[in-house]
Amino acid sequence: MRSRYPRLNRRQFVAGLGAGVAVCSVIPRHVLGGESGPAANDKLNIAGIGVGGQGWGDIQAAGGGENVVALCDVDTRRSASAQQKFTAARQFRDFRKMFDEMEKQIDAVVIATPDHTHAVACMAAMTRGKHVYCEKPLAHSVYEIRQLMRAARDNKVITQMGNQGHSAETIRMFCEWIADGAIGRVTEVHASCDAFASVYSQIRNLPKVGEKHDVPAELDWDLWLGPAQFRAYNPMYAPWNWRGWMPFGTGAIGDWICHVVDPAFWALDLGAPETVLAEVDDYDPKLHADVYPPGTQVTYGFAAKGQRGPVKLVWYDGSRRPPRPKDLEEGRNPPGTGAIVIGTEGTITHGSHGAGGVRIVPEAQMRAYQQPEKTIPRVPGHHQDWLQAIRQGRQAGSNFDYGGPLAELGLLGAIAIRYPGVKLQWDGPAMRFTNHDEANQHVNPPYREGWTL
Ligand SMILES: NC(=O)c1ccc[n+]([C@@H]2O[C@H](COP(=O)([O-])OP(=O)(O)OC[C@H]3O[C@@H](n4cnc5c(N)ncnc54)[C@H](O)[C@@H]3O)[C@@H](O)[C@H]2O)c1
Repeated sequence: MRSRYPRLNRRQFVAGLGAGVAVCSVIPRHVLGGESGPAANDKLNIAGIGVGGQGWGDIQAAGGGENVVALCDVDTRRSASAQQKFTAARQFRDFRKMFDEMEKQIDAVVIATPDHTHAVACMAAMTRGKHVYCEKPLAHSVYEIRQLMRAARDNKVITQMGNQGHSAETIRMFCEWIADGAIGRVTEVHASCDAFASVYSQIRNLPKVGEKHDVPAELDWDLWLGPAQFRAYNPMYAPWNWRGWMPFGTGAIGDWICHVVDPAFWALDLGAPETVLAEVDDYDPKLHADVYPPGTQVTYGFAAKGQRGPVKLVWYDGSRRPPRPKDLEEGRNPPGTGAIVIGTEGTITHGSHGAGGVRIVPEAQMRAYQQPEKTIPRVPGHHQDWLQAIRQGRQAGSNFDYGGPLAELGLLGAIAIRYPGVKLQWDGPAMRFTNHDEANQHVNPPYREGWTL
């Protein structure tokens, strides 16, 4: 079934790929659906999958000015606010049923389920020609990401990953400064997250795994698990805390790299790393098959590319902290969640979500810096960029061909922390580690019976 808003043709689609900057190629009205087709400013019919938590914000931001026609959530307690606001929307628990019954009515879908069900929900939407906004990280495995990138191209749909900082003014400033040579040639990026350390490391809750709990009547636990291997319900997993459990979440690194490393990823066109090496606090191979450790440091090596030289990216979370930048004045703190970007002629620090608070340090160098022309197109916000892109027939800024490889960085780190001290060699195009067969098992972990991508 075709969406009322058509998919792009191959030329239009390819034009919008690969670049963090969305390419604007407005589709004339006759292409949008014939002379009698919908005008470009018609409202879109939006469905939300996972509408509690972050999804509640997403469905309001994306659906507020559109028609929200369907809401799907496995837990009616979590979907109550959305149900009260969008009273005309039909309610579902299973997105497969929603698509079967409403395929003709839905144009676009906003997905904000836990990480382990992103891929199955995205795929169900895209193979039916629906445009997709999916929360970060794009998926739970590298294989899933590659499949989603392929499906987005094949189905020519407009996609956006939910790293909302990508639409900020500050990330554009950062990219323009780097291109301008504000700190010379960038050699190192130190990126960190100091948030929610007790959520990401769930070691203390491991003894509770065997406990017996009744599944609340409002929750469909089997659907919540989706393609993950079966385990008994326990309120310690959901909501929110699933992020610290390996079968469901991607740890601090998977959760935050899409926000914190997005600026460097865009400005330096990092792409896939060649090497990934983890250092882990309190590593225990038995514990860390199920929960993330209390502190991780992951070093990625990127080969020289285009105009830039090789880049070292180091990620720190939990008990691991980045070194204090030498250019930072006494009395100023480095960002707790953010990045330190080191070049041959200076240092930049910034916070999370699109390089918030970006500064050249020290402040005297910032003040002396003559800012370059604004060359990167500005967008009206992340959800609006996606909605506009659908209407204009262009790709959104963090489309899956941009967001997918960014999210992959976090997932590669989450694999490397299972093999601390081993420098894993990654062959990006072949999607495999060339020096570690066991690590390759985590690139595409098996789905539970009854689920496929
Ligand atoms: N962009 C951001 O700043 C940001 C912030 C927070 C969370 N997130 C992302 O949003 C996603 C959700 O995180 P959260 O903190 O809201 O989690 P959460 O557990 O609080 O909420 C998840 C919601 O999805 C529902 N759900 C679970 N499985 C479902 C399924 N199979 N089908 C339909 N509904 C389902 C739950 O009932 C709940 O309403 C994650 O991927 C997370 O990384 C992004």
